[in-house]
Amino acid sequence: MAAAALVACADGSLTPAKRKAVAAILETMEPRGTVDPAAASNLFNSFANGIRSQPGLGRSAALRAVAAVAGDAEGAQRLLRICRAVSGAHGGVQSGAQDGPSARDSAVIEEIRAVLDVPAPKALDETFANRDGAPPGPFVITLGNEKGGTGKSTAAMHLAVALLKLGYKVGTIDLDGRQATLSRYLTNRRALAKTIHRDVPMPLHRRIERAEADRRQAAESEDKARFGEALVELADRQIVIVDTPGSDSYLSRLAHANADMLITPINDTLLDIDILAHIDPSKREVRAPSAYCQMVWKQNDRRRASGREPIDWIVMRNRLTHIDAHNKRAVADLLDQLAERLGFRLATGFGERVIFHELFLTGLTVLDLPDDRLRGWSNVSLSHARREIHDLLLAVGVPEMELARSIL
Ligand SMILES: Nc1ncnc2c1ncn2[C@@H]1O[C@H](COP(=O)(O)OP(=O)(O)OP(=O)(O)O)[C@@H](O)[C@H]1O
Ligand SMILES: [Mg+2]
Repeated sequence: MAAAALVACADGSLTPAKRKAVAAILETMEPRGTVDPAAASNLFNSFANGIRSQPGLGRSAALRAVAAVAGDAEGAQRLLRICRAVSGAHGGVQSGAQDGPSARDSAVIEEIRAVLDVPAPKALDETFANRDGAPPGPFVITLGNEKGGTGKSTAAMHLAVALLKLGYKVGTIDLDGRQATLSRYLTNRRALAKTIHRDVPMPLHRRIERAEADRRQAAESEDKARFGEALVELADRQIVIVDTPGSDSYLSRLAHANADMLITPINDTLLDIDILAHIDPSKREVRAPSAYCQMVWKQNDRRRASGREPIDWIVMRNRLTHIDAHNKRAVADLLDQLAERLGFRLATGFGERVIFHELFLTGLTVLDLPDDRLRGWSNVSLSHARREIHDLLLAVGVPEMELARSIL
């Protein structure tokens, strides 16, 4: 609450929007049993009043209280998440503007980060820039969402091919052994290469079937061993892309815990936001994080407890249409709100394009050089789709210069 007050009063005033954001955060946290909302609200008011009436003294009292959390990695991350949520309320969420945290808010958050001794998040560009060095292991990108049919396999395939074309050594793991969309897509691609007598870039691929043991514990250790083996086999890759099934499973949780980056594609409707958080339909406000979100947080906490970097979580809208602009705006506003609250970044995403749907059987992606099989597609649709992949790669952290040199 001391940290929330510091950010809320960063520019000397306490706007109703920021007050509302703090109240909403408390509501969101309540189901996790982490705070007593009434006591927390009183505490917040007392710190905020202190900062506003005697800025010097009030701020140092609040910073001292923040310092008490230093050393508790999980608590510190939660606290920084709250700070980002409060700073997102300086007008953006309420007005629909997308202007990000103010410079003062950011400065205060950095001050709090320093007091907590939490390092700034790893710049993803570094991972890509250092690819000729000796990275400790592949950078793992997991595609995850507990809802089926949101575009995980489509995005996984396009990311894999795009990164291969950029010259990275890419591995792929299909954890959806039963449906095996990614594996079948790659099989179709291999068949195509034979038919046209030409090499097409292929990742090193592993498909994992779910364990069949009757006892849960035995099945989980079998899943763990299979996933571990696949990671070892792909250890020489620079990037490993993991496609997960659209449901909760032990394998899927493992893939989330091992994700340096998590990309969650969601279909672009208010209903699909429910996979991230439960929303009050009349007020269009966040009620509580979803079971999936709590699972991501839990895996993230596990990573941090073992000294690993937190998951860089990207949510990507998929199948965007031009119809129903009002609904689209409402989804965008809610996602902005959620990004701050739940701790993810938003990527532009893919439009609703028949080309994404129909290329599956050919084994091609929108990034493959136009050949006979691509001639039937309009250049406009193709170039829009490529632009969308390009933007996703930028969000992932591929440097712009590299993309400019490529065919994307
Ligand atoms: N942007 C898009 N435009 C048109 N069709 C799309 C788009 N993205 C995905 N699709 C289609 O939607 C269907 C579901 O996509 P995909 O298989 O990638 O989802 P998924 O999340 O992997 O599903 P599951 O959870 O069942 O594994 C596929 O038929 C795919 O071709
Ligand atoms: Mg799939």
